[in-house]
Amino acid sequence: MKNIVVFTGAGVSAESGLGTFRDSDGLWEKYRIEDVCTHEAWLRNPQLCVDFYNARRRDTLAAQPNAAHYAITKLQEAIPNTRIITQNIDDLHERAGSKDVVHLHGEIVKLRSENDELATVPLQGWEQHYGDRHPDGSLLRPYIVFFGEGVPYFPQACAIASEADILVVVGTSLNVYPAASLLQYAPISSTIYVVDPGMPEFGIYRDRIQHLRKKASEGVPELVDMLIKRYGA
Ligand code: APR
Repeated sequence: MKNIVVFTGAGVSAESGLGTFRDSDGLWEKYRIEDVCTHEAWLRNPQLCVDFYNARRRDTLAAQPNAAHYAITKLQEAIPNTRIITQNIDDLHERAGSKDVVHLHGEIVKLRSENDELATVPLQGWEQHYGDRHPDGSLLRPYIVFFGEGVPYFPQACAIASEADILVVVGTSLNVYPAASLLQYAPISSTIYVVDPGMPEFGIYRDRIQHLRKKASEGVPELVDMLIKRYGA
């Protein structure tokens, strides 16, 4: 059975109403990363970070998975050696029924201990109240990998990518490292598909990539049907 790895970014959730970061009108045009998404920002003005991620959480809880999330679940059900790695902090893959999703940049529906990057707790509802504490006694902060921080699940993601026969990349500009370097870990013999209506930073992978220049809700179901037909049991 083929090992399929699906690697998603903000574009897979765009049609669920969650804004991307770097498209025109993206989140990073409305907010400065230095104000809300660095450890220095958290130390300087934690309430601003909490407010920013409370708003992201409210948007996420109001959003629903779209046809792309459901197609990825269908792929995983048809070809169980399908692993999903996402840069997204939303839980739309899980709500569409996908299993064992590796979140490189954290999860909005959880908070974490300020002292331990992997000590997470679930949060009910959208609102974090600044000042609440983790059972370990330290302050709770959003479970988000801020810019400049280590990406704890990156080694696991690399190990998964290194076993890929097929890598399906959906809706990421491939601008943010180390996540974008995941492509480098896919074996040279693997096939890489990218579903994205825009032009991600393909760099040295350009010649290896089969680019479906479509929105996720259209391109992913098409690609999934083709993969299931070709490689399903
Ligand atoms: N379907 C598929 N792709 C889409 C769609 C769509 N409907 N709409 C936009 N896109 C594509 C864009 O063309 C772009 O290539 O989604 C990509 C979004 O890129 P970014 O906004 O840079 O998002 P992403 O690559 O996920 O960002 C990586 O940056 O700030 C951070 O931590 C944040 O995880 C995020 C990381």
